[in-house]
Amino acid sequence: MEIKKVGVLGCGLMGSGIAQTAAMAGYETIVREVSDDLIAKGFAGIEKSLAKFAEKGTLKDPAEQVRARLRGTTRFEDMSDCDIIIEAIVENLDTKRETYLRLDDLCKPETIFASNTSSLSITQMMSVTSGQRQQRFIGMHFFNPVPIMKLVEVIRTILTDAGVYEDAVAFAGNLGKVPVRTGDRTGFIVNRLLVPYMLDAIRALEEGVATIVDIDNAMKLGCGYPMGPLTLGDFVGLDTTYYISEIMFNEFRERRFSSPPLLKRMVMAGLYGRKSGRGFYDYTDPKNPVPMNLV
Ligand code: CAA
Ligand code: NAD
Repeated sequence: MEIKKVGVLGCGLMGSGIAQTAAMAGYETIVREVSDDLIAKGFAGIEKSLAKFAEKGTLKDPAEQVRARLRGTTRFEDMSDCDIIIEAIVENLDTKRETYLRLDDLCKPETIFASNTSSLSITQMMSVTSGQRQQRFIGMHFFNPVPIMKLVEVIRTILTDAGVYEDAVAFAGNLGKVPVRTGDRTGFIVNRLLVPYMLDAIRALEEGVATIVDIDNAMKLGCGYPMGPLTLGDFVGLDTTYYISEIMFNEFRERRFSSPPLLKRMVMAGLYGRKSGRGFYDYTDPKNPVPMNLV
């Protein structure tokens, strides 16, 4: 099946990046948010990112052509003629299932449903949709920042139609990404390995092993990682990291996936990382983050 029109649900960190990436790759793209203000916020992020590409001269098409392919909406009805819908809303099973239920009625029978979930079961989301849609339900897990990171994990369930799966793998390639194939196991490949590492860094801070800056520098300079684990937590969003950890712990019941108390307290206190201005670091001056005094 040829994918022409892409729908994205959520215009937060990930949804805005996915919508931008689809539009940059030449697809007509519509993105749904819950309010006009959140659409404006997401589109402001897209503008910043487009400016970086334009500055480097690496945009395939001029920025105005990319913008012309992108539209924001608050109406589910505007998604009905999309060929694929990529959902990137909050990491909460009930919210995602409610959304899929609503869209299943509205969308044409051929529309492929794809979730960008980090840790939820694709099968559990799929199960609220109609029998025919269930074969057209997959996971497409992108990485932050989406316009830059090359990987997409493409996830099939035991019911996914083989042709739909291959279309999704090809679509990921058309977006300029490198697809890897995986089945519906919590955390897929990357988060199964990455999440315990990030949580262990928080435990190390809690246990007084070292300071925020030294933990980050150790992994950056000792292992060549582009960001230290606490900076990465702030970048991913500590709220999202907490939800992921709770979901993965519920699935595996292993300590390595459990939320460190410090993470929980930070989320309760509204310290979500970069997106809220404070996390392990204070981003009042985003170019010069200052470590917080947390323990
Ligand atoms: N849009 C366009 N360009 C961007 C960009 C964006 N959003 N973000 C960064 N760039 C560009 C910069 O302009 C810069 O370009 P030049 O090198 O040509 O100047 C380049 O990318 C590097 O950026 P910076 O110099 O600002 O900073 P950096 O070298 O630290 O790179 C980074 C930034 C790419 C984010 C890098 O730090 C990195 O790879 N960090 C790790 C990210 C990571 O691990 N992501 C996965 C998170 S986990 C996840 O996503 C899964 C989940 O389910 C939670
Ligand atoms: P975010 O909080 O930045 O954005 C989520 C957005 O979804 C919010 O703006 C919210 O208003 C919106 N939303 C909520 N319900 C909606 C609905 N019914 N319709 C449309 N929009 C709705 O979160 P995020 O970091 O972009 O994460 C989104 C999803 O992507 C989650 O499932 C997360 O696990 C996954 N993910 C996150 C990362 C990351 O690094 N942050 C990486 C890969 C995958």
